[in-house]
Amino acid sequence: MDNNLEKDIQNVIAHLKNQGFVYQNSEIYGGLVNTWDYGPLAVAILNQIKSLWINEFIRKERNFLIDSKIIMNKSVWKASGHIDNFSDYLIENKINNKRYRADHIIKDLFPDLDIEKYTLEQLETIIKEKIKKYDGSETNWGNIRPFNLMFKTQMGAIDNATSETFLRPETAQGIFVNFKNLSRSSRAKLPFGIGQIGKSFRNEITPRDFIFRTREFEQMELEFFCEEKDSEHFYKYWINKAKDFVLMLGLKQENIRLREHSKEELSHYSKGTSDIEYLFPFGWGELLGIANRGQYDLEQHMKFSGESLEYLKEDGTKIIPYAIEPSIGLDRLLFALLIDAYVIEKLDNNDERIILKLDRKIAPYEIAVLPLMKKQSSEAKEIFNYLLANTNLRVTYDESGSIGKRYRRQDAIGTPYCITIDFDTTTNKIVTIRNRDTMKQETILISEIENYFRNK
Ligand code: GAP
Repeated sequence: MDNNLEKDIQNVIAHLKNQGFVYQNSEIYGGLVNTWDYGPLAVAILNQIKSLWINEFIRKERNFLIDSKIIMNKSVWKASGHIDNFSDYLIENKINNKRYRADHIIKDLFPDLDIEKYTLEQLETIIKEKIKKYDGSETNWGNIRPFNLMFKTQMGAIDNATSETFLRPETAQGIFVNFKNLSRSSRAKLPFGIGQIGKSFRNEITPRDFIFRTREFEQMELEFFCEEKDSEHFYKYWINKAKDFVLMLGLKQENIRLREHSKEELSHYSKGTSDIEYLFPFGWGELLGIANRGQYDLEQHMKFSGESLEYLKEDGTKIIPYAIEPSIGLDRLLFALLIDAYVIEKLDNNDERIILKLDRKIAPYEIAVLPLMKKQSSEAKEIFNYLLANTNLRVTYDESGSIGKRYRRQDAIGTPYCITIDFDTTTNKIVTIRNRDTMKQETILISEIENYFRNK
């Protein structure tokens, strides 16, 4: 009986902090606004997601994985359009001296208004004329101004215009600028993809909603290069693949939807973009995006670098390939998976338990080995150590507190199975397997453990 109570976001965050999934960044100094560190349990999930992504998007597709740097030659960002176009529009309330994203204010107060249909001037007029109170303050609005989202930094000891550079706002550009290197060294034939996983940085005006929008985040991006005539086919192909991927990780079908961007909404580089959205506690929000970037990036880098990034076809003709880009934010995906899995279940004795119904593929641990009492700990540790040394199963061990409490603890961090060692295990070599979701128990021989989990 799944008695799924309201998923109050604050309760979920408190739970994740309590259990060691997330910590507030710089907590002993009062924290840093909307910045979270990941504890061991979140890192374990993230590692599973990354390795599954590598398997699905790189290995099975025979694509290539690279690792380029966060700091790149400044010309990359001029060519990519990020220096000139990568801005949000902010507006300042001169009474409380706070700056807000104009689109966020409008979405907050007029959710039914189709922002894309209005010019900036019209949005400014709406805000100035209609919003006299906001964020607990009277208002005196300034003008809407573009605000570039790239994080500026400085390289080397001299602080001047030439030392100024940026932290990457997307991992994609590291792929485009290595297109020539990779095609030459791997002799790859179109179509092929180049992917990478890494940190990106955006100086978001209003980071918010826990790990949904932060200034430092991680992306898993693939640029799939193909001929123009195949681009529509691969655009659809990667949309489906991305959708299957998040379902495979365990997101519920009813909590995701596909949304195609309108023409006005498209990024400066895009010929077409579709988002997979997730029903977050604050409403539908972009989880990941698939874009048809066309020839934009390779063309721009050819123009700015003077290097040819053309691809030589077997018939001797040269083309600039199209790039189809599935881009997934790891932090958002982690957030969605955790909320999707969070369940409070009412038990028959009026008690309740919190369960993270994470799919076994991504659970921090697949199995917890538990002695019924401390007396059984040497037998239990032997089984635990055997599984650690001889299998790839993600196992943990816990002997502190009552067995009931330890089952709850494992439920709360999403461990799908517990192996319990009891009084008789030493003599009859039998252990109990407890299922997280059904709480059903079955007994098997120690010698069957490995097979049991291989076949599950
Ligand atoms: N290379 C294309 C690109 O970066 P994007 O839609 O700006 O496209 C892709 O970002 C994904 O990165 C988003 O769907 C989201 O999952 C994630 N992302 C973007 N900005 C983020 C932020 N401030 N915090 C967390 N994740 C973010």
